[in-house]
Amino acid sequence: MAYNLLKGKKGIIFGALNEQSIAWKVAQRAVEEGAEIILSNAPIALRMGELNKLAEECKAPVIAADVTSNDDITNLFTKSKEHFGGGVDFILHSIGMSVNVRKGITYTENNYDFTHKGLDISALSLHRILQTAMKMDVINEWGSVLALTYIAAQRVFPDYNDMADNKAYLESIARSFGYYYGVKKHVRINTVSQSPTRTTAGSGVKGFDGFINYAEKMSPLGNANADQCADYCVTLFSDLTKMVTMQNLFHDGGFSFTGVTNAVIEQMEK
Ligand SMILES: NC(=O)c1ccc[n+]([C@@H]2O[C@H](COP(=O)([O-])OP(=O)(O)OC[C@H]3O[C@@H](n4cnc5c(N)ncnc54)[C@H](O)[C@@H]3O)[C@@H](O)[C@H]2O)c1
Repeated sequence: MAYNLLKGKKGIIFGALNEQSIAWKVAQRAVEEGAEIILSNAPIALRMGELNKLAEECKAPVIAADVTSNDDITNLFTKSKEHFGGGVDFILHSIGMSVNVRKGITYTENNYDFTHKGLDISALSLHRILQTAMKMDVINEWGSVLALTYIAAQRVFPDYNDMADNKAYLESIARSFGYYYGVKKHVRINTVSQSPTRTTAGSGVKGFDGFINYAEKMSPLGNANADQCADYCVTLFSDLTKMVTMQNLFHDGGFSFTGVTNAVIEQMEK
């Protein structure tokens, strides 16, 4: 069901890779709510070709940008200004990658070249996007920027590896930049801390199946799925949440504040 929450709004969505991607669902919901969007992803992700399907469905141009490159981001924003004839009202940062995780290198053995790369892609990219947007005056007054994160930023989940550190840094950037962009242009910046979700990035984490089942049992409402995450993001892009900024917002069915559940206790007694 659509409510026209984003009627007349324009946005950029980073990170839709395939139908499972959280960004894919956010793109669909944003358009359903009346927004016009641009889709962006790394050149290598575009070569996989799946994004064209979404672009057609959303009538959205696709503009490649590796988020570790200032030039790519500048080019994206230049083209976005041309396309929309002005600034944007919202940006979704739905980007994450750890080379250490991909290569199965444990946290205590992390390779620092890989750590740097993962940090650059997963966290510093938010700063880079915001810094470039501010310089080019890309985000309209009362615009909304969201980045996706995970609770491993606050509590230890061993196999989340260096992504935990990346997410802690990402959340801190959202707070710090949220201050400056808020004062300058009333732009709000938040992170959404999502339940484990079956996507390409999610499934890369070791023991993901066991873990997602555990989270399901540990959440009074169960795990939040990608469609529900998209619903939440759309409300945060809308004018109904104008005074929310610099927050890490848990979208996790209650997992973050649950000590234990009867379902988990019963499992332990077996
Ligand atoms: N899946 C989960 O369990 C889960 C839970 C909480 C938070 N998140 C976060 O949600 C976000 C989206 O992940 P997802 O689960 O939808 O997986 P996904 O694999 O579909 O999305 C990750 C995206 O990052 C993009 N990316 C990687 N390197 C890039 C680069 N250099 N430049 C531009 N883009 C690049 C990928 O192409 C991909 O589109 C990530 O920040 C992830 O950490 C995921």
